[in-house]
Amino acid sequence: MKKWIVLISIVCFAIACQENQNQSDTEEDQDEKMEQKEGITLINGVERSELALTMRDMYNQMKSVRDSLQAGQDIKTNYLERYKSIHTDHATEPEKIDELYQGMAANFLARYEAFEHATDDRPTAFNQMLDACLACHQQKCPGPVKAINKLKLNEG
Ligand code: HEC
Repeated sequence: MKKWIVLISIVCFAIACQENQNQSDTEEDQDEKMEQKEGITLINGVERSELALTMRDMYNQMKSVRDSLQAGQDIKTNYLERYKSIHTDHATEPEKIDELYQGMAANFLARYEAFEHATDDRPTAFNQMLDACLACHQQKCPGPVKAINKLKLNEG
């Protein structure tokens, strides 16, 4: 069992910004042991930045939102204030946080807010919000692109 946990943590790390990440990505987080230290969290001995943890939350939360929408459930979310920290979170590679990043972050938050307020055709608003995740990821962090694409809903 111990061996599995080590393996899983390697797989999880592989969803970070490298290409060719393993597809089983973020589902196995339950066993993680976390330890907090200024802007960086240790998960099973692997360092995770604040930004990576916010991203991980966003990914997991958007995955449940996707599942609910797919099941035809009428859900309300209220994560905007939490997600705003992408502007200021400490990143693994701080040099990536430039003006282009901030512009794409603002665009994403606008899309996210539009999704929260959308009353009809929520799948389209949801996918447009994911396009804003992807716009930044294609530039800054290609590893999770595939996983994000898999969150998309069929429209209409
Ligand atoms: C403005 C740019 C930007 C936007 C928008 C963005 N990301 Fe990210 N994402 C990043 C960067 C940069 C990292 C690397 C973080 C680090 O390692 O510090 C990252 C990392 C990740 C990771 C890997 C986290 C880990 O454990 O290492 C996932 C998964 C992720 N993002 C999913 C998403 C999803 C889903 C969305 C939209 C709901 C999104 N991202 C929107 C830039 C962005």
